[in-house]
Amino acid sequence: MTAEWVAVATVNEMGRRRKLRVELNDVAIALFQAGGRVYAFADLCVHQDRSLFKGTLLHGKVICPGHQWQFDLETGYEADQDRCQPTYPVRVDDAGTIYVQPTPKRPEAAAEAEQEARA
Ligand code: FES
Repeated sequence: MTAEWVAVATVNEMGRRRKLRVELNDVAIALFQAGGRVYAFADLCVHQDRSLFKGTLLHGKVICPGHQWQFDLETGYEADQDRCQPTYPVRVDDAGTIYVQPTPKRPEAAAEAEQEARA
């Protein structure tokens, strides 16, 4: 199956805060910009659904405002908890348009998060 890329925002829209919350197929996505790259996370934290967009970017980690879990920018992995926040593939074209794929990089992490949300 060919991966589908969806334009969600532009780099300019991320502004100085280097983060932005967008909707993709009714899923809230938190975009973060670091080291010249853009990363896409499911916005609702796998722990207790706080908005990661309201979190902080520090030393290659996204820090959740809820209970300070620290998710790796590249993988979404939280080492202390051994849990993963779903992350999405991102690409940015020459014009600065940000594209995200609606399927998480690790679909099993998303399924796990959904299951817990339902529990
Ligand atoms: S809600 Fe994110 S760490 Fe608790």
